[in-house]
Amino acid sequence: MILVLLGPPGVGKGTQASRISVHYDIPSVSTGAMFRDAVARGTELGRTIQRYRIDKGEYVPDEVVVTAVKDRIAEQDCKVGFLLDGFPRTTPQAEALNRLLSEQSRRLNGVLNFAAPINEIVQRFSGRRVCPNDGSTYHIEHQPPLQSGLCDLCKTPLITRPDDDAEVVKRRLEVYAEKTAPLVAYYEKAGLLRTIDATKEPETVFGQVIAVLEGWQWHI
Ligand code: AP5
Repeated sequence: MILVLLGPPGVGKGTQASRISVHYDIPSVSTGAMFRDAVARGTELGRTIQRYRIDKGEYVPDEVVVTAVKDRIAEQDCKVGFLLDGFPRTTPQAEALNRLLSEQSRRLNGVLNFAAPINEIVQRFSGRRVCPNDGSTYHIEHQPPLQSGLCDLCKTPLITRPDDDAEVVKRRLEVYAEKTAPLVAYYEKAGLLRTIDATKEPETVFGQVIAVLEGWQWHI
């Protein structure tokens, strides 16, 4: 199974990606998480990424993103399939994905488009807390950690992501509308898109995801 998760920043893609990854035992490839990890570890990719101000909501250039994804999906664990969270984000990235997959004689099976109104998304951002050590995501109301302020898995103090600042969120939503939202029509035209109502609690959203994935006529 090769799946793309599409939707505005903060809609809950990462939350659902973790669950889908466990349920189907396939890796979740999040370009945002890859970039944050590379910056934190000071790798060559991280030094490149730092030039593009992702902390201010700007996108990384397509060629940098595509190279990072190409390398990642060539790894052994992706042979069984994978899901892409946060990629593609532009039409050139979507076209590059088609090329990368066809070079491997593979194809994209489906795209899940997570949808929620802006006011709900803004509320999710303001309550999001993340673990700087393992990337686990929480929400102070909807997905609180077992112990207030601490990661359930490694007990590291939780932080607010720098790009969750209200002004940066505004910019991220603008960039999404301009560069990523056109992919909804792109994948609809390709017959690959299913829209998920992401306004419900995470477990209910996951139930919808499973219903769609189990009912889908896969293009395998
Ligand atoms: P990335 O990390 O991909 O950020 P994003 O797409 O903006 O998405 P988020 O991680 O902010 O949100 P999410 O939808 O995963 O929501 P989450 O599950 O956390 O990218 C970061 C940056 O990297 C980009 O801005 C860009 O600069 C750069 N970048 C990455 N990929 C790129 C690319 N391909 N090209 C160019 N640049 C790229 O949930 C949010 C909150 O809501 C959490 O607190 C969660 O607990 C809560 N929540 C989740 N689901 C629910 C629910 N159903 N009900 C209530 N609360 C919920």
